Parts: sequence; C-alpha cells; structure tokens
Amino acid sequence: MTDRVDGRLKVTGAATYAADNRLDRLAYGYLVTSTVARGTIVSMDTAAASKAPGVLAVYTPFEPLKLYRYTKEQNDELTPPLQDANVRYFGQAIGLVVAETFEQARDAAALIQVRYDAKTPAASFRDGLPSAADPPSGSPVSEVLAPGVGSIDDALNASEVTISATYTASMQNHNAMEPHPTVAAWDGDHVTLYTATQGVILVVDRIAEALGIDKAKIHVRNPYVGGGFGNKWGIWAHTPLTAAAARALGRPVKTVLTREQAFTVVGHRPASQQTVSLGARKDGTLTAIKNDGVSSKSASNSFYEPVANLCLSLYASPNIHVSRKVVTLDVPVTTIMRAPQEANGSFALESAMDELAVKLGIDPLELRRKNDSPVVPSSGVPWSSKHLDECYRIGAERFGWSRRNPTPGAVTDGDWLVGLGMATATYGASRAQASVKVRLLANGTAVVSGTGADLGTGQSTVWAILAAESLGIPVARIRPDLGDSASPVAANAGGSGSTSTNGPAVQLATDAAKTAMIALAVQDERSPFHGMAAGDVRFEDGRLTAGNLSVPFGSLLTSLDVPGVEATATSPKNGDKTHGFRSFGAHFCEVRVNAWTGEPRVSRWLTVLDAGRIVNEKTAHNQIVGGVVMGIGHALLEETRLEPATGRISNADLASYLVPVNADVPPIDVRFLDYPDTLLSPLGARGIGEFGIVGAAGAVANAVHNATGKRIRDLPITLEKLLT
Ligand code: MOS
Repeated sequence: MTDRVDGRLKVTGAATYAADNRLDRLAYGYLVTSTVARGTIVSMDTAAASKAPGVLAVYTPFEPLKLYRYTKEQNDELTPPLQDANVRYFGQAIGLVVAETFEQARDAAALIQVRYDAKTPAASFRDGLPSAADPPSGSPVSEVLAPGVGSIDDALNASEVTISATYTASMQNHNAMEPHPTVAAWDGDHVTLYTATQGVILVVDRIAEALGIDKAKIHVRNPYVGGGFGNKWGIWAHTPLTAAAARALGRPVKTVLTREQAFTVVGHRPASQQTVSLGARKDGTLTAIKNDGVSSKSASNSFYEPVANLCLSLYASPNIHVSRKVVTLDVPVTTIMRAPQEANGSFALESAMDELAVKLGIDPLELRRKNDSPVVPSSGVPWSSKHLDECYRIGAERFGWSRRNPTPGAVTDGDWLVGLGMATATYGASRAQASVKVRLLANGTAVVSGTGADLGTGQSTVWAILAAESLGIPVARIRPDLGDSASPVAANAGGSGSTSTNGPAVQLATDAAKTAMIALAVQDERSPFHGMAAGDVRFEDGRLTAGNLSVPFGSLLTSLDVPGVEATATSPKNGDKTHGFRSFGAHFCEVRVNAWTGEPRVSRWLTVLDAGRIVNEKTAHNQIVGGVVMGIGHALLEETRLEPATGRISNADLASYLVPVNADVPPIDVRFLDYPDTLLSPLGARGIGEFGIVGAAGAVANAVHNATGKRIRDLPITLEKLLT
C-alpha cells in the first residue's frame, strides 16, 4: 500500500501540467470552430478580428499555416486543420487567433464572420442503421462453428432455448478534468512542446509529419496528465496549429481548448447497436452466440468500435458469430474511449446473459459459471492464468448474492424498488517492447526514466515501487521521470498496457544499473571493492556488500567522486502465441429505482478481480473504483446528444453532459486476487486501467431489471425510460 508518489505535488498545485508552463513572451491561441456540420467555407471575414486589441495573427483556410497530412491513423484524423475549406463536422477547427492574452484571442475569434455553403449532414445513427456498411478495414465477420453445423442460424434454430434482443448505446465524450492544452516554444529550429498526451512519442511522430521537420528537433514534455480516457492518444488540430503558429510568430504560444471544443475537436466514443442472439440447452449450457454489431464512424477517419468482438473471448460456446458494420456520419472524429469495444460490448452480452437466465429460470451467476471457458472460446487456446470462478465465488459470498430474490419487483424499501445484478468484468492484456533507464546517484537516490505517461493512473508510483524493491531502498528515494520524449521509449498509456509493458522494463533496467554499479566498484582503483570478482559483490538493501565490507551505493559514488551510474534496458514484447491473455472478474451491485419518479440510484457495489500481480493495491484500487464510476456513468448518465438536423452537440458542457458525482456513487468494495501471470512477464501484472468499466453497465442494467422488471436495452438508463 504505497501512496501516490506525486500525490502531494498534485494536491498542492506544485505539479506542472502542460497548461501551467508560463513562458516568457507567451502568446495565447484560441480555436475558431465551424457552426455547420457539412459543406464548404465560402469566406471568412477576419478584418475586425485582426484589428482587435492584442491580436498577433489570425489563421484560416484562406491564410493558413502550412501543415502536412499524417500518413498513419492513430485513432485521430489524417487531415490537418486549415489546409482546405471543407467542413466535415460541426465544431471542426477552422481558424486560430493568436493574441497577447487568452481573453483577447477569444474576443477576436468571436468577431470573425464565416460564410458557408452548407449541405445537410448525415448525423443520425438511428437513421443510418438501415444503410450500415462493412467497416473500412478488417474482416466484417468472425465465426466459429462446430463440425457439421452449417451456419450460426442453424445452431440457434437447433438450440433448446433462445433469446434475441437489440441493445444500443449513445455516443459519449471523454471529458477528462484537464482540458486539451498545447504550449509550443521554438529555439532556432528546435521546438519544445508541453501538451497533454497519453504518449509523448506519439506527439513527436505527428509533429514531425505535420510540420515537416526532423524528429530529432522535437522535444515533448508532459510529466503530468489530468486524465486521458483515450482521446489524449490521438493528436488533434490545436497541437500542430499551435506549434506552427509559434514558429511563424517567433514567440511561444499556448492554446487550451474550451470544454465545448473538447466535445468536437478531440474525438468521442461512437454510438453503437448490437443484436445479440443466444442459444442454450435447458440446463444453461450455451450452444450459440451471435452478435451483429454496428458502430457509428466519422467521415473524417476510419475508427469505429467492433462492439461485438467481446463475444469471441468471454463465454464458452461451440458456435460463435460476430459481425461488424459501420454507419458513416458527418460527426466529429470517432476514437478510442475507456475500454473501446469492450465497455459497450459487455453491456449487450451481459444483458443478454441475464435475459437468458430469466428465460431459463437459472440464477444469472450460475449461468455464467456454467459457461466459464478455460480456453479462448473462439480459438481453443488456453488462458495464461484465469481465476474467474474464484472471483464469482468470493464475490457472491461477500455480496450476499444468495439472498437475491429472482422475482423482479419483489423487494421494496419504502418508495424504492431494490434489485441486485451482476456481470463479468474482463479486459485483454498485452505486453509490448519497452526501454527504461535507471540512474543511481551519489546522493543515494535513483531516477527511473522512460517515455511512459501517468494519466493519473499511478504509473509513476508503480515505477518507483518496482525500482525501490529491486534496489532495496525506500520508495521515497526513487524519482520516476515519465513523459519526456528524450527518454528511452517506453509504453504509451493506452490499452491498459502500461504496467504490463513498462513494469518488466523497470525491473530489467534496475538490475542492469546494479550490475553497472558493481562493475564500477570492482574496477575503480579508489574503491574498497577494487580487484574483487564482480560475482563476489552483492547489491542488496541499497548497499554493495562483500564479506564484511558493506557500503551504500550513494556513499560509494560520493567517495569515488562519480555523480552517477546508469543503465538502460529493453524488455521484449510478449511472444507467447500459445496462450490467451486476459483479465477476468465479477461485478455485483444493488440498484434502487424510485417507484414514482423512476430515478435509478446505485446503492451498493462489489468488484472482485484477478488482474495478475497487483503492484500497488492502493492505486490499483483507485483504478478500479474509477472504472466502476465510469461504468455507472455509462449505465445511467453519460450521453452526448447530437441534433440530427444540424450535427451540433446540444449538451457540450458538464452541466448537461452528466458524469457521476460523489452523490451518484456508493462506497465501492474492490477485492483483488493476486495470481502473478508469469506467462505474460516475470512481473506477472496484466494491467487494470480499463478493467473496471467492462461489465459495470451490464451489472447495473441487470439490477434495474431485478428491481423493476423493466429491461432497458438502451444506454444510458435514464429515468424517462423507466417511467414508460
Ligand atoms: Mo485507452 S481508451 O486504451 O486510451
């Protein structure tokens, strides 16, 4: 249980987030965004804006800053801003005003008159569903059929019991607390960028392309990030624009998006629809799983959610069929957000499992236990380490699942209908290549450096713990140094892979630094260890020890007048193709629905999970709580409302886009099993960032059904849906 190493800095305001970089002669950028969703900009009258107080420059498609197209999609858009007059969505960046102050830039932006040749946008997912098409890349269908079975529909028809239902989920926005800032400062032909990102290397790549400069001339610094959730992976319009403006003006420039702009300029989670059919024997054994998934997709990029995919990985079934289709819309860019595919995918599958349990008259937990799969259901490859049944058992016991009344609406407490629901939690695990550098310093501390990002996840604390453990010194004597593009290339923060990828690299680099320290000790003539065999000197508890001789590494460096010893190590990507790697767990919740108003409230929550080794239970617990809170938002509150006629988002603020606040969240009980997944890495950690959200919405929907008898198949489950 280690406190967040950067916790004090953050709560005292001493942590420097990107927008906190107040540079000399800093100028301020403000984005101008489109007020139609589709068409062409005919003209932009910038005369008044250019003459407004403090204005330094006004950039538009008619007076652009030259930017080059990206060549590879990173879940963002390939089209750089202002290079043509086309409008592809409402709220698209169409201009940048730079002024002496933020307010001057914003006021001047309001003076710009834009004339459009506007066309009617396609902005309704629902209206587009009949013309859903195959996705831009990848296969539209994945299917496994038992020998002799002709099609998934044959398998369903041959099943003793079937259910079929369609589930939908609205578009959502990430809404990290920290808005999207970029500060750019040039020194000759070198640029330094402070920008909120899930990976400084991603920014280097993008800026090199957009500005047409060498990567070696770009330095990105971003040690602290105020939440990522997926849309700080891609690089958005303001970042290359700000860098280019700073170059053109010869002054540092800072651009921070407004909350409203953060609804359109930086991507969102697509809307989705899944039609799920399950076939089973009367005893609950699944015989067929079919999920036809459709996702919205922006006309501006190719990202969509293959929402049905989770069916390939969760429950055992001899016949599984998933399909993927997209509805292409004139909407802001669709991108990864908080367990892309899986959060929505699990809502449909977990709701369908509950519907099947009701139809079969089987306890929903029993139904899941019965179909627990020791292998990847779609491939037959065994899981590396799976303890889902233990999660179910511990969870049921701790939550009091056996006291659940299976009859919907049977339990009341005053005006409240009370229901219990559960669902399986899951998230895939991976391990990529990562390099990390460890420096042992003469003051007895160590610095651990790599390009990784801590989005508030606790990643830097994990680095400190692992290095401290290996060096045998207190965590307080380790300084994790993340988010600097000059460091060795570690994992970007995405796909919940930071700890599984970077953790083993921190361990290897620390070992290498210890070896380097011992080598120095036996080679330096002034060292008391001089002349010994390296193998006879041990590094433990922060000291070099041989026989009776024992010296702290810092003292030794000081006495040798050497400032530090460093080593860089690279840990390889996971090459094991003979196992599937995925975390599993179980959510249990109690939901109360007001009998008169339909208001749903989550009143109790337990999550039990197996994520491999837990490096730091305190921050891991926070991660899961955060995921469940997002799951409650997914289930009950979060919904981006797009006006179908205009393509405008009508609730682009945090007063009308609802996220859970403390009053919406009960105490969340989180229990970890601790089984290191040693097939994934020597560290054995699988990663936990997105794990907590997957299954959460399904658990809530199932509890709502148990409370009321109403099966709401459209997220979010708002009270008007419960009143009808
Ligand atoms: Mo996360 S949605 O993999 O950034």
